[in-house]
Amino acid sequence: MNDASAEMPVNHHADHPGFAGITGSLFGFLFLLIGRANARLATERAHVSAADHVVDVGCGPGTAARTAARRGARVTGVDPSASMLRIAQAVTRGRADITWAEGTAERLPVPDGSATVVWALATVHHWRDVTEGLAQAYRVLAPGGRLLAVERRTDHGATGLATHGWTDAQAESFAGLCRAAGLVDVCVTGDRAGRRPVWTVSGTKP
Ligand SMILES: C[S@@+](CC[C@H](N)C(=O)[O-])C[C@H]1O[C@@H](n2cnc3c(N)ncnc32)[C@H](O)[C@@H]1O
Repeated sequence: MNDASAEMPVNHHADHPGFAGITGSLFGFLFLLIGRANARLATERAHVSAADHVVDVGCGPGTAARTAARRGARVTGVDPSASMLRIAQAVTRGRADITWAEGTAERLPVPDGSATVVWALATVHHWRDVTEGLAQAYRVLAPGGRLLAVERRTDHGATGLATHGWTDAQAESFAGLCRAAGLVDVCVTGDRAGRRPVWTVSGTKP
C-alpha cells in the first residue's frame, strides 16, 4: 500500500462542481454511454429480481435503474442533480416501476427498511459524508438487504480524471466503514465492468 493514497479519503471528489446546469447535462449524456457496464455488473452481483426494491444512490441519468427495472424490480433513483434527473426521466419515458427523487446519499428520500438492495455506482467518491451516507443506506435497507458499491480501479499516484475511482487502499477503507456502519459479510472484490477493472464492495444488513 502506498502511503500517499492511503491518506486519500474514499470521497476524494466530494467537492466536484460539475453535475449542475449545462455541464451536468453534458456529463449526464456521457454517463448514458459509459454507465452500461457498471449497471450490468451491479444487476448481476446483486441478483436483482422482481422481488426487489432497488435504491440507486447517485443514479445519474438512470442507466442502472432501468437495467434493474427490466429485471422486474421496483426502483428508486436518487440524485442531487436536477440535470441528471431530467435526462433520466426523458430517457425512461414514464415507466411506472421507477421513481426519480432529488436527494443525496446523506439524506435519502426513502422510508426506513423499504429497500432490498441499495447500490451506489461510481458515486461514493463524490459523497460529502460517507459515514452519514452509509447510515442512511443501513436505515433504508430491510434486514437481509444488500449494499453494493462499484468504483473504477485507480492506480496509486494517478492524477486528474484518472483519480475518479478507488485504489485498493480506498476500497478497503470503504469496506471498513461499511463494517462500522453495522453491515456484515462485507467483502471487496476486484471485478470487471466490460473491459474496465473495478472494485465492488458488498455487504448485508443483518
Ligand atoms: C460519475 S456519476 C455516476 C452516475 C451513475 N451512478 C452512473 O453510473 O451512470 C456520479 C453521480 O453522483 C451524484 N452525486 C454527487 N454527490 C452525491 C451525493 N452526495 N449523494 C448522491 N449522489 C451524489 C452526481 O450528481 C452524479 O450523478
